[in-house]
Amino acid sequence: MEYYVLTLFPDMVRDGLHTSIIGRAIEDGIISLETVNIRDYTLSKHGKTDDYPYGGGAGMVMQAQPVYDAYRSVADRLSYAPRVVCLTPQGRVFDQAMARELALSRGIVFLCGHYEGIDERVIDEIVTDSVSIGDFVLTGGELPAMCVIDAVSRMIPGVLHNDESAEDDSFGGGLLEFPQYSRPEVWNGRAVPPILLSGDHAKVDAWRREQSLIRTAERRPDLLETAAISPKEREFIRNYLANHKDI
Ligand code: ADE
Repeated sequence: MEYYVLTLFPDMVRDGLHTSIIGRAIEDGIISLETVNIRDYTLSKHGKTDDYPYGGGAGMVMQAQPVYDAYRSVADRLSYAPRVVCLTPQGRVFDQAMARELALSRGIVFLCGHYEGIDERVIDEIVTDSVSIGDFVLTGGELPAMCVIDAVSRMIPGVLHNDESAEDDSFGGGLLEFPQYSRPEVWNGRAVPPILLSGDHAKVDAWRREQSLIRTAERRPDLLETAAISPKEREFIRNYLANHKDI
């Protein structure tokens, strides 16, 4: 997987991603990351990449030319047409299914906006996907691009090592993850659930599954609509909720 990030803040993206598991995957050559500084492509003498919006209004707009030339500096070298993902609160809301789907790409170009937006004409010209990471507004597209790259990369074989498995995590089967505990057995007067110390793997698995169902029902009931759960488990959730009406 090749990632290309078009940005006014390449250091921010590089520093963030050359860390921890994603940094290791870059070093191992499983994924590659190239940041392209949009400012390097401005034709303005003063290094300007933004200008006032036609029609007036507050804020500045990123101009089409430097964005387009930064994009061409990447696209002209590739033998395939990459997905071009523009990070914007107006995009489709990112989720695990989109992460899985994007992980199948050969390469992805990310376009990080700043100021009040990007000239719509260059968006129409190059962008294939507009993606939001949630219903809130950030100051730029860099953090969203880094979030998407992180979530997509951990779906790529070899990025996670065996002890960091992707399958069982929250959203693996559409449910939230069960609670985890480590040593000591009692901390601050709080004991680890005894079943986890029983050594009975079948019982532990069953308890964890129930905890996932309960957590999802309590915290994210919307996920139950599409989660992979059996009729018996749906019945379990109904009974649980009926007996815990205070939730
Ligand atoms: N740029 C600013 N806010 C954003 C968001 N929530 N998602 C994606 N890009 C953004």
